[in-house]
Amino acid sequence: IIPSIIAIDGPAASGKSTVGVLLANRLNYLFFDTGIMYRAVTWAALQRLHAVDDEVRVTGLAEQVQIDVQPPTRADGRQADVLLDGLDITWNIRRPEVDANVSQVSAYRGVRTAMTKQQRRVGQRGQVVMVGRDIGTVVLPEAELKIYLDASAEERARRRFEELRQRGEAADYEKILDAMKKRDKFDSTREVAPLRAAEDAVRICSDGISAEGVVDRILEIIRIQH
Ligand code: C5P
Repeated sequence: IIPSIIAIDGPAASGKSTVGVLLANRLNYLFFDTGIMYRAVTWAALQRLHAVDDEVRVTGLAEQVQIDVQPPTRADGRQADVLLDGLDITWNIRRPEVDANVSQVSAYRGVRTAMTKQQRRVGQRGQVVMVGRDIGTVVLPEAELKIYLDASAEERARRRFEELRQRGEAADYEKILDAMKKRDKFDSTREVAPLRAAEDAVRICSDGISAEGVVDRILEIIRIQH
């Protein structure tokens, strides 16, 4: 039998979303990218509070805003539309200022409580592939299959660099590598729900493996374990 809840965690640009979408499509499951929610709150804070360092106000915002993702999964690899209180912020949440501030916002306990609650509600319906940093450890520790997807920092920065270039955006490899390392360090050393592999997670390093290759490996694990 196929596990009903599949959790995929790992650092930035490790391929979680690409792999997650492909896997969800193969299984006909819902794909849910939790990073979108932290990015949406960060964008809301930058827009409405012009800063992210007031924990009380940012938390208040996280508890009030309505984040919708439509459609939740796309087979063609395009970004799903993200709406913040009805406004399309799909591209805004990928901006460098969101990258630079999202880790601080995600470290706030109250923000995580609000986001985790919504994520659990979706996850517990089952038939879901949920990706993030703390899905296997905190959000859905009951997940029957937990994957910890990693890759070297250089490989991950190169992927992000190519992604930006293909979109026609200016990109500087060294800057991307540097910002990514900072974000990973912040995410894995924070006090609340830090990025780490659950004890019962299967670790996959995607260096030199295509997204399809990683999906095949996960399907193989499902065949063997379940
Ligand atoms: O996955 P993505 O790079 O879009 O995530 C953006 C940020 O959101 C991460 O760097 C992390 O700070 C935060 N995040 C989190 N917990 C999750 C998903 C994302 O703290 N489950």
